[in-house]
Amino acid sequence: MEREKFGSRLGFILVSAGCAIGLGNVWKFPYLCGANGGAAFILIYLAFLLLIGIPVMICEFSVGRASRRSVAGCFDMLQPAGTFWHTHKIIGIVGCYMLLMFYTSVAGWLIQYTIKGFSGAFDGITAEASGAMFSAMVTDLPGMLAGCFAVCAISVLVCGLGFQKGVEKVSKFMMIALLAIMIILAIRSVFLPGAMEGVKFYLIPDFSKIEEVGLGNVLYAALSQAFFTLSIGIGAMVIFGSYLNRERSLAGEAVNITLLDTFVALTSGFIIIPACFSFGIEPGAGSGLVFVTLPNIFAQMAGGRLIGGFFFLFLTFAAMTTVIAVVENLVAINMDMFHWKRKQSVAVVGILLFILSLPCVFGFSIWSGVQPLGEGTCIMDLEDFIVSNNLLPLGSLGYILFCTCKNGWGWQNFIQEANAGKGMKLSHALRGYMHYGIPALIILIYLKGYYDWFYTYAPMKSLAVWMGIAVLLLVFVLYCVFAKKKTAR
Ligand code: ALA
Repeated sequence: MEREKFGSRLGFILVSAGCAIGLGNVWKFPYLCGANGGAAFILIYLAFLLLIGIPVMICEFSVGRASRRSVAGCFDMLQPAGTFWHTHKIIGIVGCYMLLMFYTSVAGWLIQYTIKGFSGAFDGITAEASGAMFSAMVTDLPGMLAGCFAVCAISVLVCGLGFQKGVEKVSKFMMIALLAIMIILAIRSVFLPGAMEGVKFYLIPDFSKIEEVGLGNVLYAALSQAFFTLSIGIGAMVIFGSYLNRERSLAGEAVNITLLDTFVALTSGFIIIPACFSFGIEPGAGSGLVFVTLPNIFAQMAGGRLIGGFFFLFLTFAAMTTVIAVVENLVAINMDMFHWKRKQSVAVVGILLFILSLPCVFGFSIWSGVQPLGEGTCIMDLEDFIVSNNLLPLGSLGYILFCTCKNGWGWQNFIQEANAGKGMKLSHALRGYMHYGIPALIILIYLKGYYDWFYTYAPMKSLAVWMGIAVLLLVFVLYCVFAKKKTAR
């Protein structure tokens, strides 16, 4: 079967940026920023994007382009005979499914909120009523099931149309619409009365806030966010590398995609944070910021109905481009592993995805008693924690080691692939940093973050259990990566 390919370079950049740009940029980033010291958090986050995010993305694209396979087959193609790197696909496959298992619920909320926004449901709403509206939505099981079903159905339809005619075309349209809506909303927000206080909070670092929250927590939050926002570590970018020709070098493309992703995250903050200050509302309001705080702000704004509707449409497009991109990964995984046709693979992924999304949906109503990370948490928190705080960093560690270790694909093969084509080149001088520096940074922050998170938020006895799990996961990844079979396959 002939390998799919992108119709244009713009298609590649927008589809990959669409995979990266999602809830992480428009939902998580503004509230993480609000809770972790505004600009101080942003500086650390940007440093991680540059120091770790971009190199890992280059590794994923290179592995994809050289192997012309999805995460399910890329290691098998490139690993030296007798090594275990192919076991790394487990992180990719589990990670892609688990990311979507909670993403479908949130994307479903966004579709519902877009309809609410345009139909005037936020008109005159008070802060209490806004909170009640959100609670009513998440506990309404039929509504949640319908939202989740709609998200699965849309992504299945788009992927079923084919890569160029479906995924590339639809993602390009959504991304261009998203960028246009976003710029208009940001301009509107920064010109609200009193919004400049918010702009200052956003742009002037407050390092005392970092002391308050704890440096370990801030570093951990920033690193997890850097992985999450770029969708790296679970092989989601490998597939787009595998559809790419060798005209352009990969460092430049990774930088372009990261710049677009960062632009959207920062602009989301410019939409949300100045508006919060203008209406005297705390921007560190946590995950409810977008769904509870903002409708109340739209209610008080001139033209709020239209702005609210477009705001949630912008968020829906951001979320849907990620869902479609990750579903495309899963579809390609089946095609690689079982040699299925696209339509068959799409149908299986769609059904499986809907079923796997149910625990998260139920977690807000009939399974709300399940509080896996402590009181007040839900199944979505656990799924997010497994993906963002474990699979993404450990997966990224695997890609870096695969591309730099002698018993893996190796530096020479990697840099040759990454630098093939016109554009920015990676320097050989980065070898030591990528081989030792990045893994050391990831492991240190991963373990320290685990420790701080559970020390602060969980009882001591669960700290020991969770630290044990973290160390075991790490040892497992390192073992799979470095172990050699006794006999070559
Ligand atoms: N990269 C995706 C996001 O930011 C997962 O939401």
